[in-house]
Amino acid sequence: MQDFDLYLPTHIVFGKDKVNELPKLMAPFGKKVLLTYGGGSIKKIGLYDKIKDLLKDAEIFELSGIEPNPKIGSIRQGVKLCKEHNIDVILAVGGGSVLDASKNIAAGAFYDGDPWDLVKDNSKVGKSLPIVTILTLSATGSEYDASGVISNPETQEKLPIFGDFAPRASILDPVYTYTVPKNQTAAGACDIMSHTFEQYLVKNGNMLTDGFCESMLRTVIKYAPIAIKDPQNYEARAALMQASSFGCCGLLNIGRDFSPWPVHGIEHEVSAYTDITHGVGLAIITPRWMRYSLNEITAPRFAQYGVNVWGLDKNLPQLELANKAIEKTEEFFKSLGLPSSFSEIGIDDKHFEDMAKHLCDNWGDLGLALTPLTRDDIVAILRNCL
Ligand code: NZQ
Ligand code: ZN
Repeated sequence: MQDFDLYLPTHIVFGKDKVNELPKLMAPFGKKVLLTYGGGSIKKIGLYDKIKDLLKDAEIFELSGIEPNPKIGSIRQGVKLCKEHNIDVILAVGGGSVLDASKNIAAGAFYDGDPWDLVKDNSKVGKSLPIVTILTLSATGSEYDASGVISNPETQEKLPIFGDFAPRASILDPVYTYTVPKNQTAAGACDIMSHTFEQYLVKNGNMLTDGFCESMLRTVIKYAPIAIKDPQNYEARAALMQASSFGCCGLLNIGRDFSPWPVHGIEHEVSAYTDITHGVGLAIITPRWMRYSLNEITAPRFAQYGVNVWGLDKNLPQLELANKAIEKTEEFFKSLGLPSSFSEIGIDDKHFEDMAKHLCDNWGDLGLALTPLTRDDIVAILRNCL
């Protein structure tokens, strides 16, 4: 058992119509609000009007148009608004992209230079504005964690930012996810599973969190197909939303070996160059990374996954179980309608060397992955995705 340090400061309020608690949750932070959102889905689902109505007594400024894979340009605009209007609190409404951008804005509000500096060097992140969120897409876990991922198209980089800006409160109403299109629902499901794999597939786990991880995976495997077939199925949307929040909060990881999250590292590089949807990249890379990492030492962990998550016969040889579990994973992503190769989505090998170099220079120690990975290994995994 490894030592651990778990701090979960976010107040999660989950359920139908819980948005009505927004005024109470926002009250401690002040009246000058920066409302951040994306391309307009929150208007289509009536959430924008509802917020305006609920926060009648607040002074609301807005930053709209935050892109998927949020770009530093939007963050710069948000920081400017915070500084110009002495904003007290950010209300981030949307998917992971809006929430992540808001975290960079929250820290940028107290920083004198360019907010991209904070992404490049997280040690510069200091004080941050408080953030409250209303989540509309189950995927990233940004509603319950202290990190974000920001893209800079000028430098072709997509990098994480960590700071003391976990949301003070997050409202999770599964009904607001009824309109999430099938492809985003599938990508989100894959993202939740990937967050789990990144923490589950390490050399040494422990009984408690092996169970948490296996339960996360079984939940998504059961409910994602239902949500895709029947988008207004409350139980399915609720189960995905509940699972989403535990993906990145640290709970799945307690007492386990450190993981450098190799699949996320690789996906962020691909996304930096191609702007693909995060969960789509993960669906393509995950099975390749699993196969690349499979050997006699790692087989028991994959075999455990096959038995406890996919219900495979525990009497089969370990290596056979491991291979079957990886096949099941790949088939599942396909069954959700997710692409299964880079060529399917028009990505070639032009930048693979640059991606691998940037990853090794800027990410955690990939030598500590389940099977240690070098720069050449990253290129090989990327090639296997073509
Ligand atoms: O912009 P709008 O109009 O809101 O449309 C969005 C967007 O086009 C749409 N959408 C969201 N809620 C909707 C909806 N459409 C209809 N009905 C709704 N209720 O969905 C599209 C995608 O939204 P986005 O926020 O980009 O998706 P997601 O939540 O998957 O976030 C992805 C971003 O989060 C990062 C990813 O890398 C990516 O940049 N991640 C953040 C993490 C974190 N903070 O811890 C961890 C993750 O591993 C991930 O890297
Ligand atoms: Zn992710």
